Amino acid sequence: MSFTTIEWTDDAVIMIDQRLLPTREVYVKCRTYQEVAEAIREMIIRGAPAIGVAAAMGIALGAKGIKAGTFEEFYREYERICDHLAGTRPTAVNLFWAVDRMKRFCLENKKAGIERLKVLIKEEALRIHKEDLEINRNIGKNGSPLIPNGARILTHCNAGGLATAGYGTALGVIRAAHEAGKEIEVFADETRPFLQGARLTAWELMKDHIPVTLITDNMAGYFMKKGMIDLVIVGADRIAANGDTANKIGTYSVAVLAREHNIPFYVAAPISTLDLSMKSGDEIPIEERNKREVTHVFETQIAPDGVKVLNPAFDVTPNRYIKAIITEKGVVEAPFDEGLKGIAGKG
Ligand code: MRU
Repeated sequence: MSFTTIEWTDDAVIMIDQRLLPTREVYVKCRTYQEVAEAIREMIIRGAPAIGVAAAMGIALGAKGIKAGTFEEFYREYERICDHLAGTRPTAVNLFWAVDRMKRFCLENKKAGIERLKVLIKEEALRIHKEDLEINRNIGKNGSPLIPNGARILTHCNAGGLATAGYGTALGVIRAAHEAGKEIEVFADETRPFLQGARLTAWELMKDHIPVTLITDNMAGYFMKKGMIDLVIVGADRIAANGDTANKIGTYSVAVLAREHNIPFYVAAPISTLDLSMKSGDEIPIEERNKREVTHVFETQIAPDGVKVLNPAFDVTPNRYIKAIITEKGVVEAPFDEGLKGIAGKG
């Protein structure tokens, strides 16, 4: 891949600014954990696995600066940093998964001594980054057989290298199919209001020379009815125990349309996106974002002053619309309860 989503240097976390793509490739340097938290909140970095990685690196950055005489003093401050990062965005469970892993790791290594512990914490954050890349390659390997040669694939939002440490989940499957020599064509929904499809998915697929056609969100049904879409594949922000899946707003509508047209609808996500503590998607918290994302496109106002606006950033696709969930440990088909539990526990 010809870009780096997120990178650790010893005094900072560097991220490509996803708000500015595709017209400007600017790398942002976060020197404090507060700046990393702000970058997640402001969507300089976004996408469930990527914000998990960013939070882990932010915690490592924060830990470096803690001044404490005892482990108890250290951990009190460390926990505060972890909670600050966990407070940035509510829906993608990978964020909480990463924060919990970093907390657990710290407690498990309490005997190391504070200076050594800071180094170990940094290494754990880098491990989360490295593992995510491997996980995505395995999601790609497991999902690629589901993509027939010649497939025309619709995707929504960006579940690519930009949304992860690299390679991507939904786009990882697409990349793996492309690498296997299959002739595929991707249709990217533009994904209002933040335009992850138009700005990010189109950009990263074009960089990799994977054929992509951009459509606006309201065109998906038209192309399905014309027989121009063979399958849908999307990422996920949180998957409940019954397979209900939260993903970018608009995913649910695409899933319903796919069912109407007998088109298989796949979700690709790492195990860290599963939240088996939630029985169904009804329990998943949905982030409500700034009204300005709806009333403006960049600096241009497109709605009347003072208009009432709603801006939920995610919706939940009920499990009945999902043909299979592709993970790094294998593919789970409906009914999902037993399959997801089994795969989550698989070594
Ligand atoms: O608001 P975003 O851009 O963080 O939302 C991203 C998505 O909904 C992605 O589809 C999801 O996180 C999966 S990314 C591999």
